[in-house]
Parts: sequence; C-alpha cells; structure tokens
Amino acid sequence: MVAQHIFVLIGVDNQLSIAEVISVMQSNGVEVEFIERVGRIALFTAFRAGTRISILPGLERLGWSFKIGRLSDSIPSGEHSIEDYQDATKNIEFPEPLAEKSRWGISVFSPSKSVDPSIFSRMKGLVASHLKENGVKKTKFVPTDVVSESFREVSCASIIRNNLLRRGFEVLIIDIGDKLHFGLTEWAVDTVAFKARDLSRPRQRFEYSIPPRLARAMINLTGVKKGDVVLDPFCGFGTILQEALLLGLKPIGVDIDDKCVSATQKNLSWIKKTAGITLPGEHVMIGDATHLGSLIPKQSVDAIVTEPILLPRLLRSPSAKKARSILKKTENLYIAAIQEMAKTVKVTGKMALIAPFIVPSDGNRVSLDLERAFNDAGLRKFKFQGIPLTSPIAVITKREFRVSRELHFLEKA
Ligand SMILES: C[S@@+](CC[C@H](N)C(=O)[O-])C[C@H]1O[C@@H](n2cnc3c(N)ncnc32)[C@H](O)[C@@H]1O
Repeated sequence: MVAQHIFVLIGVDNQLSIAEVISVMQSNGVEVEFIERVGRIALFTAFRAGTRISILPGLERLGWSFKIGRLSDSIPSGEHSIEDYQDATKNIEFPEPLAEKSRWGISVFSPSKSVDPSIFSRMKGLVASHLKENGVKKTKFVPTDVVSESFREVSCASIIRNNLLRRGFEVLIIDIGDKLHFGLTEWAVDTVAFKARDLSRPRQRFEYSIPPRLARAMINLTGVKKGDVVLDPFCGFGTILQEALLLGLKPIGVDIDDKCVSATQKNLSWIKKTAGITLPGEHVMIGDATHLGSLIPKQSVDAIVTEPILLPRLLRSPSAKKARSILKKTENLYIAAIQEMAKTVKVTGKMALIAPFIVPSDGNRVSLDLERAFNDAGLRKFKFQGIPLTSPIAVITKREFRVSRELHFLEKA
C-alpha cells in the first residue's frame, strides 16, 4: 500500500513548527491536512488544487522543524515477518540512480514507546542488500545516535555534513499509532549553517539576540513572499533582518542605539557577501520605534517581525508580584510601539511580535497583557488554517532563565 504521507520531526515547541510548515506550504499554494501528531512527530497529507502531492515546495525556507520526510509504505505495527520488511523496502523510493559511493543512514522514531531494535537491524540489512543488488559497491553507513529510548536518529548536522540528501539518503521508520511507516527524509534543517551564521558574523551580542532559527520561523509565519518589505523596528544586531535577506526579502531596520545600527549594517553587508546576495534595498536607521511615523511611510511594509525587549535572565525565581512589576516597566514601550507599528504595516500586512514572560516562584506564568493595545491599534490575532493554536505561542528559552518568549501573530482587524 502506498501511503504518501509526509512526516515532520517538529521542534520542542511543536505549535511553532507546525504553524510554520502550514504557513510556508500555504505561501506555495499547498494545503496540509494533519493525520496524527504524537509528541515531536506529526504526519500529514499535502494537497494542491485538491490533488494529493508527495513532493513539498519551499522546504529550504523552514527554520523551526528538524526533518521532513515522505512516507511510501506502512504496515500494521506489531509482529512482522521479514517479508513485510522486504515489501516495505521495495516500496521505498530510493534516489535514482544511486550515487556511486552512496552514504546512507537510518532513523527510527517511536514517539510513544521504546524503539524496537530489531526494526533497525532488519532494515539495515535489507537496505545494504538493496544497494548491493543495484551495483553500488562502495557505501558508507552513517551512524545513528541514540537520542532517547524513542528516537534513534542521524542528527541533522550529520545529514548535512555527510551530504545525505544529495549524494545518498536517509531511511525513515516511524512507529506511530497502530502503524509502522517507511520512507525517506526529504529535508533536514541546516543546523550547521544556522550556527555558523550566529557564531561567525562580524558583530555579536548573544544575550539580546534572537536565535536565527526562531527569527526564520517568525518571518515565515507572516506569509511574506520574495521581494516583500520586512521591518524590524527594534533591530538590535540584525538577526531577524539577516534571515529576511536570505529569504529574498527587503529588510528595514530601526534601532534607538547608533551602535546597534552600525552593527546591523555590518552584519547585513557580511551576510550579503557570504551568501552572494546582490539585490540592493536594505535600509537601517537610527530612530525611536514609538515614533515610526517620522521614519517610515504609513502602510508601506508587508510585515513587521520584532522583539522589542528581551529581559535579562533572573537568577532566582521572583514572586508573582515582583514578576508583574518587572513586566509592567516594559508595558508602555510595547503599547506605544504597537500603535506605531500598526500604522506602518500595509492593510494586508502581518506582524510577528515577541513579548517576554516570567515564570515566578508559584510556577504560574506572568505575561504582558497586550490584548487592549492590539484592539486599540486595530489589530487581531490571525489563524492558521485547520490547526487550533494556543495564542500567543510560548517558546521556552531555558527554564533556569525564568524569562522566556511569547509570540503574537497579528493582522489588521
Ligand atoms: C531585544 S533587542 C533586539 C534584538 C534583535 N532582534 C537581534 O536579534 O539582534 C531590542 C533592541 O531594541 C532597541 N530599542 C530599545 N528601545 C527602542 C526604541 N524605543 N526604539 C527603537 N529601538 C529600541 C535596543 O537598543 C535593542 O537593540
């Protein structure tokens, strides 16, 4: 039986991964229908104009998911004969022709139980025979990491370093619900490149910078297309704008601090040079985000993606009262900036805004209440087709920091 399902290994903050996948697919004219989600594994089918498709467009844009694969066969889980595995192996759509010195690997995900080691060993033997039968003399098996009892996988970094998706393949086995699914990995996030960008850019300021993969996901969630204008009015050292450039967007940055403006300019020039981007159009300026009207024409940007304040980590858990008072100090800046940002974005535009939240000693999250500011600015939360998301989406930085991020996704009401 040909299953034609798509598999996604989602990030720990699974809502963000799923929303990002849906958003990127929608931007490419593809609708997704979720079949099942267990822990960090999601299965879905993809449609274009009502017809099921098996190859997904735009995967290279994604930031927050880890892997996406295409499942070509599934058998009921439980006891299996070797013939079941042989049939499943035959149905895997191996790359054609197989590279002469194929590198390959196997990942087994069994999100609700421990991985059955026999699944792994049987598949390894069968795939090795398949390669031999197809005349591939030299092969290299890329080792699998035992990530947890439920995950035995070739890491994304290893997939990228070994060039598995171009000069080889990774077999996927997903043991989920009452089925064992087989397929191949289509895409893995390039953690190597994301990390290199973060660590090698000329100007760095870790404590206040957003992780580039999160920046990428936030931009994607606004549904922007190549050539669109993206504004970060609190641009800091320019991480969000760097990702925007790489996605073919026109970045505009504003920061109140001239050192940040010059750092962003240097970082953007560097990213353009290293990525070979020749398009002009980026613009970074000193200014106050609570007075954007004097800097940027009304209704001129397609999306705003920004993090106005990243509170420093707290060494001890504050009381709920203290947490509220810390957040209160940031409130006026948010309210004033939200008003201004709403004027700057086009009627069809979107906003992705990060606000901080604190987990105090009683464990109950304390957040900034921005609902009124959104209403007053004529903004409303936007929905992701078919998926009930709790909004805002929380992205935990590190529990021991006690300060994390809430992501708000907004459009004109
Ligand atoms: C959390 S940082 C942004 C980090 C940025 N996303 C990055 O990854 O580099 C917030 C930035 O907002 C700037 N800022 C603070 N108040 C501002 C205001 N009223 N207008 C514009 N920028 C402001 C600060 O100088 C700081 O660089």
